[in-house]
Amino acid sequence: MIAGFLGLLVKREGRKFRRLEDVGGVPAVLRAAGSMPEMPALYVHIPFCRSLCPFCCFNRYLFREELVRRYFADLKRELEQYIGLGFRFSRIYFGGGTPTVLMNELLGFIDLLHRHFSVEEISLETTPRELTEGNVGLLRGAGISRLSVGVQSFDDQILRAMGRVNGPAEEVKKRLLLAEGRFRTLNVDFVFNFPGQRLDQFATDISVFKSLGIDQATFYPLMASPHKKDALERRFNRVDNSREKRFYNLILDAVYHEGYKASTVWCFSRGDHLIDEYIVESDDYIGIGAGSVSIVRDHFLVNTFSVERYHELTSRGELPLIGMRKLSPGESRYYYLLTKLFGMKLDTRDFLRRFGRDSGKRLGFELALLKAAGVLRGDSVLQVTENGMYTVSVMMREFFTALNSLREHCIENQL
Ligand SMILES: C[S@@+](CC[C@H](N)C(=O)[O-])C[C@H]1O[C@@H](n2cnc3c(N)ncnc32)[C@H](O)[C@@H]1O
Ligand code: SF4
Repeated sequence: MIAGFLGLLVKREGRKFRRLEDVGGVPAVLRAAGSMPEMPALYVHIPFCRSLCPFCCFNRYLFREELVRRYFADLKRELEQYIGLGFRFSRIYFGGGTPTVLMNELLGFIDLLHRHFSVEEISLETTPRELTEGNVGLLRGAGISRLSVGVQSFDDQILRAMGRVNGPAEEVKKRLLLAEGRFRTLNVDFVFNFPGQRLDQFATDISVFKSLGIDQATFYPLMASPHKKDALERRFNRVDNSREKRFYNLILDAVYHEGYKASTVWCFSRGDHLIDEYIVESDDYIGIGAGSVSIVRDHFLVNTFSVERYHELTSRGELPLIGMRKLSPGESRYYYLLTKLFGMKLDTRDFLRRFGRDSGKRLGFELALLKAAGVLRGDSVLQVTENGMYTVSVMMREFFTALNSLREHCIENQL
């Protein structure tokens, strides 16, 4: 009940992110890089995959070698624009699509990053199909500290239903073992509440994950924006969010209660400092590539989603931005609250440092509501309770779903 109510509130807030203004040149907020107290993280989007999974809600296109080579050249031009503006990055996240889709281009780009910046860590996503002994060695050599692999399920029936073409589950397990122990963090992604997925199948996914001895898993509730929902329901069964909590309770019982710490409400790890969610680790980040967004000093900036338009704009030496939104002070605080809830805790001293005001005064009503609903507890450091974790998961799902409709709108209109 409370999860649904808070989810609706978040959906409303998330929708505001779709109302964008024109940019017209380099926004003033990006000209002030030199005066930023802390450099933002860098997110690099590689929107190509060797096959397209029907459920996927990210900006992605089918692999074509010449297109991917041209894209990496465009990406370098966009990066150089930010360097020219004074940005320096030490925490870097590659997402997709599939960043490893063309290894020599990826390695060339990472080399450029090392030449320009003093890089502290690089996180990168890949698929099991690209997890070969050769690639693992190359990625280690390039300084990748955190590798995340999209497994989705170890059940062949579910993998087929999802349209995954990464080989049968037995093959996926073997490939994961190639990477196990070779990176500071190895993460595997799963999707739960997929149409037709049974609880016992998901329970088996979790036990296989544990038996492989991998330290971290991220469990994504199926996120279906209205358009994607229709498409999924035409192809599969009904997307039924009323089943979601039962899946989530299984994660709590079989993972959280079994010694894995919640780094976010979706990500569970053994050991410390394993998280690789840039929206939790970094208040500000710059996103480059087609379909990336940035959050910089209370500004939300959106790049074009079209690879063609991305090429046109970067070739003209322009930033590939299609819109921005200056967040109101209230929107900024809500966004901050949501990302901290997602990361399981809100430190009121950090809030004071960031906003110059006490969280009790600025978020008094919201924090009181979350405490009364049993989602948060504590004083100076507010912790998400075990009972509150599912509520936060619903809030985050609604927020991402609202952003997905921005994504769909941009993709459909080739913005
Ligand atoms: C951008 S993908 C990158 C991983 C890689 N391309 C792969 O699929 O193996 C990151 C993760 O997002 C999750 N994901 C993609 N579409 C989703 C959706 N509609 N709902 C929930 N999770 C989704 C999947 O778990 C996927 O592994
Ligand atoms: S789930 Fe991964 S491999 Fe599938 S389309 Fe999305 S990004 Fe590409």
